[in-house]
Amino acid sequence: MNTIIDKRFNQTRLKPARLGFLGVGWIGRNRMEAILRSNLAEAVAVADPSEAMASEALRLAPDAKIVTDLDALLSLDLDGIVIATPSALHAEQSIRALQTGVAVFCQKPLGRSATEAAAVVAAARSANKLLGVDLSYRHTIGMQRIRDLIRRGELGKIFAADLVFHNAYGPDKSWFYDKSLSGGGCVIDLGVHLIDMALWCLDFPQVAEITSTLMKAGEFIDRLEDVEDFAVATITLANGAVLRLTCSWRLQAGCDAVISADFFGTAGGASFKNVGGSFYDFAAQRLRGTATESLTEPPDDWGGRAAVDWAARLAGGQPYDPACERLVDLAKIIEDIYGSAKLTSITPETGPI
Ligand SMILES: NC(=O)c1ccc[n+]([C@@H]2O[C@H](COP(=O)([O-])OP(=O)(O)OC[C@H]3O[C@@H](n4cnc5c(N)ncnc54)[C@H](O)[C@@H]3O)[C@@H](O)[C@H]2O)c1
Repeated sequence: MNTIIDKRFNQTRLKPARLGFLGVGWIGRNRMEAILRSNLAEAVAVADPSEAMASEALRLAPDAKIVTDLDALLSLDLDGIVIATPSALHAEQSIRALQTGVAVFCQKPLGRSATEAAAVVAAARSANKLLGVDLSYRHTIGMQRIRDLIRRGELGKIFAADLVFHNAYGPDKSWFYDKSLSGGGCVIDLGVHLIDMALWCLDFPQVAEITSTLMKAGEFIDRLEDVEDFAVATITLANGAVLRLTCSWRLQAGCDAVISADFFGTAGGASFKNVGGSFYDFAAQRLRGTATESLTEPPDDWGGRAAVDWAARLAGGQPYDPACERLVDLAKIIEDIYGSAKLTSITPETGPI
């Protein structure tokens, strides 16, 4: 049995956090493995309507049991629950867990709208329970170094950022393409990471204006229920800085993925980019005039760090953390990107220009 003394909260727990895992598809099992490897928590039970997925999860935790659903998980005297279900279920499931007095680590997005995200945060606050969301790119060494540079003022005033996430494949599960289950397309799936990286680096600045263009299969979206596979958005901050976001599924990008977050300030720049089209390998550089200086190179095993960080804080006895209130700002921006897109019947020219 582990003894964990967490000096940050001056508390001692005699045993690892007791966790339930709700939704153990690809990412659910990946994060479950990372948490269990840390020895900060034990898996008490898993719940997933897919028997195959639940059985696969038990290979990671042979002592855990399979239960039918969220209610069954919540009857097990858990410390926390890890949610990795289709996106539209996140808010409701998180609220039910928090209202039962169970801490939550949820996959992104926390909600499909700012209202949903705010309701989850309110439930965490009122239950005084820790709420975490898997905004995993914050935990790359590259983004941490860039944030440090920005926050120390070494890049001067950041007046622009270019944020890009093209996934050449797009999701392979059908629920991602049903807006009632996913909440949207590439913006809520991939853009959420980019916007979070920028807001987190810039200390959650106020937004003045958002404009966006959403497309599906090369044409402007003309129905609210359509799920976009290409998006461009401009987020103008109250201090005049401009964040330009581009993201997509199934773009003919010439490689698996193009992922970057570039920040430009009055005293220098910083660049975070995937290497060789990889979804996992990133390099970061500091930019001065025409010179570049490496901040970090792969490898960096960052994927499970947000989950492990939450498990460590839970095991250390941390209650509600007001930092989760920023999740509502993130959801509001995504909502405004969807809300500001003009629904139009204009079709882009199909022939050569
Ligand atoms: N943080 C990240 O970088 C990251 C990466 C990938 C996916 N995600 C998010 O993780 C979530 C899951 O994505 P995925 O790719 O693993 O999808 P998935 O379809 O592989 O997994 C979802 C699982 O949830 C199960 N499920 C469905 N309804 C359920 C319910 N009511 N209760 C319990 N389980 C239920 C499904 O059977 C499936 O096993 C999505 O919200 C996605 O946006 C986040």
